[in-house]
Amino acid sequence: MSFRTIIEPFRIHSTQAIRHTSAEEREAALRRAGYNLFGLHGDEVLIDLLTDSGTGAMSSRQWAAMMDGDESYAGSRSFYRFQDVVRDITGLQEVIPTHQGRAAERILFHVMVKPGQVVPNNTHFDTTRANIEFNGAEARDLVIPEGRVPASRHPFKGNMDVAALEATIKDLGSERVPLVMVTVTNNSGGGQPVSLANLRAVRAVCDHHRLALYLDACRFAENAYFIKLREPGYADVPVKRIAQEMFALADGCTMSAKKDGLANIGGFLAMNDPEVAAQCRNLLILTEGFPTYGGLAGYDLEAVATGLEEVLDEEYLKYRLRSTAYLAEKAEAAGMPVVQPPGGHAVYLDAKALLPHIPPSQYPAQALAVELYRVGGVRGVEIGSVMFGKALPDGTDSPAPLELVRLAVPRRTYTQSHVDYVGEVIAEAARRKDAIRGFRIVDQAPWLRHFTARFEPITL
Ligand code: F0G
Repeated sequence: MSFRTIIEPFRIHSTQAIRHTSAEEREAALRRAGYNLFGLHGDEVLIDLLTDSGTGAMSSRQWAAMMDGDESYAGSRSFYRFQDVVRDITGLQEVIPTHQGRAAERILFHVMVKPGQVVPNNTHFDTTRANIEFNGAEARDLVIPEGRVPASRHPFKGNMDVAALEATIKDLGSERVPLVMVTVTNNSGGGQPVSLANLRAVRAVCDHHRLALYLDACRFAENAYFIKLREPGYADVPVKRIAQEMFALADGCTMSAKKDGLANIGGFLAMNDPEVAAQCRNLLILTEGFPTYGGLAGYDLEAVATGLEEVLDEEYLKYRLRSTAYLAEKAEAAGMPVVQPPGGHAVYLDAKALLPHIPPSQYPAQALAVELYRVGGVRGVEIGSVMFGKALPDGTDSPAPLELVRLAVPRRTYTQSHVDYVGEVIAEAARRKDAIRGFRIVDQAPWLRHFTARFEPITL
């Protein structure tokens, strides 16, 4: 007998209170923050869907393991446990802990990337792109064309365009390509998975040109479960074996343990090449710490090691992907246009489709994100012309191709009734759509402006 309802595969052992705010309090908070949701205090938010990074709940086993953390500066037992777990899943022999994903990126690119080179990826995450550009190189996105079309229902919208990769390498010459990266799942493209067939094809191109292939592995377990669900031949393969197969195709990886490490902080860099590893460790010591802790406490290493074991539990992954899909269904039922199919960690609302009366120059996705907070204290993040548009010298903006609001789902944190509530808030925002107005930016930083920009509502 199997039942239809997919339940949270845990019971709640410890709770954290969340507080309702009044409409007046939310309006005052918005004014104080210059209508930028990054400026809100956490306590002013009821349901926080800003990010799935470091915001999940840890298990009783993780907390128990933390009590047993070894804080030895050198040779911590917790490091050797961490290394064993990472080696078991990835097969990669050189394991370098870092405080989070971007530290792994900074170190790897400093070692491998030179000015004038080009790093291909399906889609670079912001920090990956920034760290490549910081080294004077270009970060080039080569996702398949379907991956750029919100309405396309391709099962592996995160796949790399292999022909474009081959053409890029031929065009540049392999000496200008220091490594190839693939992001699993493809966060910037909507949390969309990459198939094993695609990874194998990318591997073949890398072999042909003698290039290293690195995975940006933040959400590797969610990607592996999508493969189990969608790729022919994998329905009966244990998800851990699928993950091992993914990593076996790579020469190394960067990892933010704040996602599929199920921890609040942590990350790592791993590879097989001992010479690259030695150079990375030299840099690690400069800013992160000794190679057996890399900027983490011994108890953090324990939390991540246990998290990496737990994340491959198939009951957990089934619930995880289902709960994201459930939020997407609620949003659609509430009359909100949504990017399809939903990704592993987030649902993307299409503000351009909902608010055609607001031009990109007046930031429709910002307007929708503000409205969700105003209506019910729900915080998402704008992924549109505020984040990706550029201020031009004449005072206007170059618009972004899409105007989205990302609702990212923290792991093991909110229950189904929380999501039902978010569905009601979305429905109310959709009902008010004709009354929603755009914004103008009154103050902005020269880069990464979305974090600190201040806005003013446009009133006619
Ligand atoms: N790569 C990907 C695909 C990511 O999604 C992130 C973080 C990073 C690298 C960097 O990791 O934050 O530990 O330094 N993404 C978060 C998000 C911040 O909200 O999507 P980090």
